[in-house]
Amino acid sequence: MALAIRQIHPVFVGEVTGIDISKPLARDEVAALEAGMDRYAVLVYPDQRITDEQQMAFARNFGQLEDSRGGNITRAQDRRLDSGMNDVSNLAKDGSILERESRQRLFNIGNMLWHSDSSFRPIPAKYSILSARTVNPAGGNTEYADMRAAYDALDDKARAEIEDMICEHSLMYSRGSLGFVDYTEEEKAMFRPVRQRLVRTHPVTGRKSLYLSSHAGGILGLPIPEARIILRDLNEHATQPAFVYVHQWRQWDLVMWDNRQVMHRVRRYDDSHPRDMRRTTVAGDAPTIAQVDAA
Ligand SMILES: [Fe+2]
Repeated sequence: MALAIRQIHPVFVGEVTGIDISKPLARDEVAALEAGMDRYAVLVYPDQRITDEQQMAFARNFGQLEDSRGGNITRAQDRRLDSGMNDVSNLAKDGSILERESRQRLFNIGNMLWHSDSSFRPIPAKYSILSARTVNPAGGNTEYADMRAAYDALDDKARAEIEDMICEHSLMYSRGSLGFVDYTEEEKAMFRPVRQRLVRTHPVTGRKSLYLSSHAGGILGLPIPEARIILRDLNEHATQPAFVYVHQWRQWDLVMWDNRQVMHRVRRYDDSHPRDMRRTTVAGDAPTIAQVDAA
C-alpha cells in the first residue's frame, strides 16, 4: 500500500498509512512526511511496533536527535531509557510506578500544562515523536493546538502588538506555576531562562504562528504581571476547541508533531496503572532570536 496522508481534524492533523517505520525509509517517503508535517503539523501513525533503536533511527530522518539531558531533574543514574529517548512515562528505572510524592513524578506533571517541547532551550526542538508502548486505561489523552490557526484568528491590532515581543522561557516557570519551586543550584543553572520570539515564521511555508508555552514566564520590557496576563489571554485564545485535536492513544500509535507550529498537553490519567510513552526529539536548527547573554 502506498504512503497516504488523510486529514483527520478540520484545521490540522493527518493520519499516515502505507508505511512501516521500523524499516529504513526511502528518500521520497521522508520528503512526503516532511511535506505532511509542514502542512498538517501533527501526523498520527497507527500500529507502528517499534523498538527504541528503530524510533531513534526514524527520528534521524528529519534531523539530529536532541540530547534529552538538561530537560529534566532526573539524574543520569536514575534514567530508565537511553539518553536519545525522553521518558514521559510514570515509571521508575526498575519499571515500578513512581510514588505519589516522587520528585520526578511531580516535575513531570508539568507536561499536563500546554507547552511546546524544549522551548526552554536556546535552540528549541523541531519535531517530537511519541510512541505509545503501554496505554493507561483511564485518561492520558494528548491534546494538540494549532498555533498557526490561533495566530491567523487574531485581529490586526493584536498581531501588531505582539509581533516583536520576546519571551523568557524556563522549566522553572512552568513548574513554578504548579507550586514546584524547590531547585538545587545545579538545576537553577540548568534551567536558566532563554529568550524566544512570541511570533514565529515557519522556515518552509512562511506561515506565522504563536510560539506559546507554559515555560514562558515573562516578556522583555514588560512588568511580570502584565506579561503573564498577555500570555494567559493568548493561551486561552490559542487553545479554544476549534484549534484543538484530542488524541486518544492506542498501543503502538506513534504521533509526530512540529513544536514550531503546535502546543500540546497530556491529560490526567490513572496513576495506579503504568503509562509507558517514549519520545524522540528532533533538534531545531536555529534560535528563534539571536540569544542575548543575560550576564
Ligand atoms: Fe511535551
